Amino acid sequence: MASKIALDKEEIPKQWYSILPDLPRPLSPLIDPAKKAPGPGIVPLIFPKAILGQEMSTERWIDIPDEVREVYRLWRPTPLFRAERLEKALKTPAKIYYKYEGVSPSGSHKPNTAVAQAYYNMKEGKERMATETGAGQWGSALAFGCMTFNIGCTVYMVRVSYDQKPYRRVLMELWDAEVHASPSTKTEAGRKILAEDPDNSGSLGIAISEAVEDALTHEEANYGIGSVFNHVLLHQTVIGQEAKKQLELEDDYPDVIYGCIGGGSSFSGLFWPFYYDKVSGKAPKDLKFVATEATACPSITKGEYMYDHGDTARITPLVKMHTLGHDFIPPPIHSGGLRYHGIAPTLSVLNTEKKLETRAYNQIEVFDAAKLFAKTEGIISAPEPTHSIKGAIDEALRCKETGEEKVILFLLCGHGHFDMQAYDDYLKGKLPPYTYPEEEVKKAMKKLRDLYPWLETLPY
Ligand SMILES: Cc1ncc(COP(=O)(O)O)c(C=O)c1O
Repeated sequence: MASKIALDKEEIPKQWYSILPDLPRPLSPLIDPAKKAPGPGIVPLIFPKAILGQEMSTERWIDIPDEVREVYRLWRPTPLFRAERLEKALKTPAKIYYKYEGVSPSGSHKPNTAVAQAYYNMKEGKERMATETGAGQWGSALAFGCMTFNIGCTVYMVRVSYDQKPYRRVLMELWDAEVHASPSTKTEAGRKILAEDPDNSGSLGIAISEAVEDALTHEEANYGIGSVFNHVLLHQTVIGQEAKKQLELEDDYPDVIYGCIGGGSSFSGLFWPFYYDKVSGKAPKDLKFVATEATACPSITKGEYMYDHGDTARITPLVKMHTLGHDFIPPPIHSGGLRYHGIAPTLSVLNTEKKLETRAYNQIEVFDAAKLFAKTEGIISAPEPTHSIKGAIDEALRCKETGEEKVILFLLCGHGHFDMQAYDDYLKGKLPPYTYPEEEVKKAMKKLRDLYPWLETLPY
């Protein structure tokens, strides 16, 4: 049987860890395209002050409010498992551990930040938060977070998921959120897109434009985001801090850490505390960090590192990151949470400074890995972390060839109970092994350079 390594409630971390002071070089500033110069654009208008402070803070450790830890107690600390049955099936000398975030109320890591964001908005007098959601994981997490602090929640859900995943919508509505299929008629951005293309199936970029516009045009509302921004990744570091303690109980330390990246929050939440060990000379081993993504949305493996907008309507400022272009329309793959065009600026810096390794996998190979995982460890993975499972399995198989007894740690950041359609399609052989074409990335980058020819002259 897989062995479970649990912690007491008292061991829920008391602080979050920020990587900003420990990055190999500082982040490039946000650029306001109207001024063609550094500036936060609309950012200060849509977030509470406490969140803005965390976004730019140079403090390494930031206290977690007691009220937030109190809500975390509902499901934290989350378990760490040694995947002994998977190891046996692979006949590998490696040890495989996974940290499981699927035990949260909404079934993923997302409530770690949703609860914190709802708390700070409530504290600063906001009555409602607006957000976007792709597959529905983030929307349901924020619906849950807002409910715990008694504020409203409006979710713009990408049309294709709204139609394909009605149960995620029901979950959000059960937690009192108002859910609109995006593009919607509720916002200027949505109406404009529908006028041009009434059957538009939506994208995260469009839904972000709608949620940001909602927050900008309503005094009582702010915006909440589920990934990419520094404060979101910061809130996820409870994951890695707990995992470190759990591995200590086993007298183990990882040689390599795998996670999947949509915007990069779950993976960062796991590896940042270990990265801190590494840069502060406390790590007993020279550990490696490996980010995995979908070949259908290869933001870090094929996307360029350049300034781009976070949303399709170009309401948000320009951010320096790996990107596939802000008007990227993702192919309809099942890993909804990995279908975003950009990657967190912090991860982008770490990647360009060669502090990370990256891999991209297609849908079929990751579902093959998820099937083996379900048959050995029992848990049905969310489609996104099937990429981490695939990475960990490949690493364990390499160990079998070399005889290395590596310690592999990966993040199983959610369960797949709402994703049975994906598994059904997989079992029926209906999933295409989609790879996003290189030429499309080149076209999008040319479009961006044509739009802002002055981008190349910026000194950042
Ligand atoms: C279960 C799950 N994993 C991973 C992701 C990807 O986001 P991130 O890279 O921020 O963890 C999502 C995003 O919605 C998700 O729902």
